[in-house]
Order: sequence, then C-alpha cells, then structure tokens
Amino acid sequence: MKTIKLETTMHVYESRSELPADLHALLAEAEQAATRAYSPYSHFQVGAAILLNNGKVFTGSNQENAVFPSGLCAERVAAFAASSAYPEVPFSKIAVTAINPSEPLKEPVSPCGSCRQVLFEYERKFGQPLEVLLAGQDGPIYHFQSVAHLLPYTFHAGFLPK
Ligand code: THU
Repeated sequence: MKTIKLETTMHVYESRSELPADLHALLAEAEQAATRAYSPYSHFQVGAAILLNNGKVFTGSNQENAVFPSGLCAERVAAFAASSAYPEVPFSKIAVTAINPSEPLKEPVSPCGSCRQVLFEYERKFGQPLEVLLAGQDGPIYHFQSVAHLLPYTFHAGFLPK
C-alpha cells in the first residue's frame, strides 16, 4: 500500500483592488447577476459570469423552486446558457460571487460539487483551462488556473464505455 497526496494550487488576491482589469470586470458582471437571483427559500444570492473565447459574457444567478431539487445554481445557469448559445466556443474564465443578506460574506463562495463537475465537462471538451475566480462580498478572492484544480481526480467521459 502506498499513499498519494493530491495537491491543488490557487492564487489569493487580498481584495478587489488587486485584481487585473479583466478579472475585475468579469467579477462586476457576476456581482450584478447575483442581484437577479431568484432565491426565496435560501435568501442566498449567487451570481456567475463566464467569458468565452469570442469575448461574449454569459451570466447566471441561482434559480430556486418550491420543489427544492428543481432549482439550479448560478454557475450552471451561466454555463448552460453559454454552451447553448455558442456550443463551439471555449470558456475562458468564470467569476462567481454571492450575497448573504443576513451577514456579508467575508470569504469566497465555494461552488458545489455538481457545478464543479459541469464546469469540468466544458474545460475537457474544449481542451483549454477554464480559470475560476471566487469572491465573497468582502475579503480575499481566490483564483484557480483550471477547474481541475477545484476537482482533482474527476470523473469524465473517458471512464465511459467506448
Ligand atoms: N448556490 C449557487 O448558486 N452556487 C454556489 O456556488 C453555491 C450555492 C445556490 C444554490 C441555492 O439556490 C443557494 O445557493 C443555497 O444553496
């Protein structure tokens, strides 16, 4: 028996003012998207903005439902909108942020496992790393160079029968 350590890397910006202009602009789009969340059950508002290689930006916000599992996270709303509009254009970067109305979020929001899996699918499809920027309302901002860094040892189409 041996043990293998899986390591991951992320960069940390101390605040929004440290961000390069392109990431700052994408995060601003995600912040706007969060205000459009439909979240009457959790009251947690999440916004995502995806920049495609062709320069287009697609945003999404979480959309909840009285039948709880029927709702969808902001990241998947944005990813599916982008892929539906431009199925052949790679995703370059995604910014995600959230608003907690009861107590401002001081750490970056953390995408759920299903969203990581969905984002990984597009990263693998296009063979191009998808950068991920995660922010709260205040505090540090995490930057991952690839979705794979957020989801090591990922299940993917290569496991499926030929
Ligand atoms: N949510 C997202 O939209 N993205 C995340 O990264 C975390 C969670 C949503 C799902 C649900 O509408 C609410 O936040 C509470 O889980």
